[in-house]
Amino acid sequence: MWDKAVITMQGAERNVVTGAFSYTGKYITQRLLSVGKEVRTLTRHPNPESPFGDQVVAFPFNFDRPSDLIESLRGATTFYNTYWIRFPYGESTFDKAVENTKALIKAAEEAGVQRFVHISITNASEDSSLPYFRGKGLIEKAIIQSRLSYAIIRPSVIFGAEGILINNIAWLLRKFPIFAVFGSGEYRLQPVFVEDVAEIAVDAAREDGNMVIDAVAPDIYTFDELVRLIASKIHSKARIVHLRPGHAFFLSRLVGYMVGDVVLTRDEVEGLMADLLVSGGPPTGKTRLSDWLEQNAGIVGTQYFPSGLKRYYPR
Ligand SMILES: NC(=O)c1ccc[n+]([C@@H]2O[C@H](COP(=O)([O-])OP(=O)(O)OC[C@H]3O[C@@H](n4cnc5c(N)ncnc54)[C@H](OP(=O)(O)O)[C@@H]3O)[C@@H](O)[C@H]2O)c1
Repeated sequence: MWDKAVITMQGAERNVVTGAFSYTGKYITQRLLSVGKEVRTLTRHPNPESPFGDQVVAFPFNFDRPSDLIESLRGATTFYNTYWIRFPYGESTFDKAVENTKALIKAAEEAGVQRFVHISITNASEDSSLPYFRGKGLIEKAIIQSRLSYAIIRPSVIFGAEGILINNIAWLLRKFPIFAVFGSGEYRLQPVFVEDVAEIAVDAAREDGNMVIDAVAPDIYTFDELVRLIASKIHSKARIVHLRPGHAFFLSRLVGYMVGDVVLTRDEVEGLMADLLVSGGPPTGKTRLSDWLEQNAGIVGTQYFPSGLKRYYPR
């Protein structure tokens, strides 16, 4: 059931965060609430066990009802946008996600939002041949061409308690005697901690100028190094082997069949292998994956984290 309340905390600065009960949006929300801001959220899941009790008022996305969407953003100082889809499914396509995001941008303009903080991805580009990265590039362009004051934050893979990729690599390493790396494993990634992404986003909201910044931690790993790091932290004895990308992808489809999920998409594998998850700029996050793994070695990968197939596309 959707909340009817309009103002929850008299006088507090209002922020709207998409996905406050999901992943990155949750950490942005946590940070905003901790400094006394009011948070509204746009979500498709208004009734989860909210970690914030009744502190966060939930509204639907209302992509097709612009006036309702504008009303839900009215009075917001900052709009933090995390909305995106991880992979297309049925009528939910990347083109549709771009169109939906443009509706959010337009509504933010109409509602008089003062700052638009958008979570993108490293190396987003409208020229990319990969639909995920291309869609992200098109959205960045739409934001830059809008009337909004903006901060575009471009994270690499995000790790943290609910992070899927690192957790599921650990799960595979715990569960199976062999772990298949796509090809050479020499392509790189620069994972960033979810709380650092939230800090970068909230700090960027306070800045005046328009900006585009990568959210990346100090360490760059080859994929092979990353898998070996995770294996060593969780004491996995799995043999790490290198397979042709097509063969490794086939195996990931088999695992997907087993767990009833999309474990990896072709876009994700190709983006990773094309070195799109590293930044050419300085590190902006401070938490090191190796330290986080050390602290979370007892829990990371103890269960499989679903990608959202059942959550967003229930049959
Ligand atoms: N996770 C990463 O490793 C990573 C890396 C680089 C960039 N990013 C970017 O960071 C942003 C946040 O990512 P996240 O992993 O933290 O996402 P998330 O919290 O799982 O989802 C963000 C928002 O998108 C909505 N959403 C997700 N999938 C959807 C679908 N299939 N249909 C409709 N709505 C959907 C969620 O709706 P609900 O509120 O209903 O859950 C939520 O409001 C995204 O823009 C993503 O592209 C993420």
